[in-house]
Amino acid sequence: MAPRIMDDLVERIAAAEGLDKAAKPLANAVSKINPPGRVSKDLLSGTWLGHPLHPLLTDIPIGAWVSALLLDLLGGDSGERAADQLVGLGAVAALPTAVSGLSDWSDMLGGERRIGFVHALGNVTAVALYGLSYFSRRQGKRGRGLALSLLGASAITLGGYLGGHLTYRRGVNVDRHAWHEGPEEWVEVAQEAELEGGTPVAAPAGEDTVLLCRRGGQVQALSDVCSHAGGPLHEGQIDEQGQVTCPWHGSTFRLHDGKVVHGPATGPQPVYDVRIDDGKVLVRRHS
Ligand code: FES
Repeated sequence: MAPRIMDDLVERIAAAEGLDKAAKPLANAVSKINPPGRVSKDLLSGTWLGHPLHPLLTDIPIGAWVSALLLDLLGGDSGERAADQLVGLGAVAALPTAVSGLSDWSDMLGGERRIGFVHALGNVTAVALYGLSYFSRRQGKRGRGLALSLLGASAITLGGYLGGHLTYRRGVNVDRHAWHEGPEEWVEVAQEAELEGGTPVAAPAGEDTVLLCRRGGQVQALSDVCSHAGGPLHEGQIDEQGQVTCPWHGSTFRLHDGKVVHGPATGPQPVYDVRIDDGKVLVRRHS
């Protein structure tokens, strides 16, 4: 019964267009301050790490606050000081966690942006409550500090649930190539004549769609489906350095090996071997 109630709640949030009045301008402002191509975007996305940064950072405040709660409940007098320090540590660690989450959230649209907005509201509420709890504890008001911590735990539970929903149910920030692999054997995907003029061409290749581009007499092929959120790379820009920029959120990949040059993507694009046979272009997954 409980999961059904939570599903209904999440669907209501996703459909609540009224949230856009606040969420959309905020997301636009974040994107303006932190656009793709900036070091800050790569840093906050986790492009340098090869893994989204935000979920990794969430472990620190959540771990600190859960540990503090256990000490509050089971640690007795000797656990008080450590509990107080963990409450404060969690509140400090929540700040970079929130900034990285804001960066990820600014790339979302529609229902996901609304769910992410409420996720952020829950977490900001939790940080405020834990911050107040810390100061209450410092003033020796332990009862009030514990009550604020419990309220904070409720807010972070709701926020965490919504964050988990975005990832595990909606696939936000899950590498789009986690399950879809291109063909291991050679398959015909296009006619060589279609690639004249250097215009990128997209063609189905097994479960994937491949982006084909002729550069300097060579045909290069990589998955057309952006690893970040599935954007169509053939609609993006290809620059002089042989890099393609996704039209959706501006991730940039090297055509020859699929490596991420700029985020928000953190995972590389699969690349394909290319063979030209009798005017036909064939590809197979590069191993
Ligand atoms: S889909 Fe987001 S950068 Fe490509």
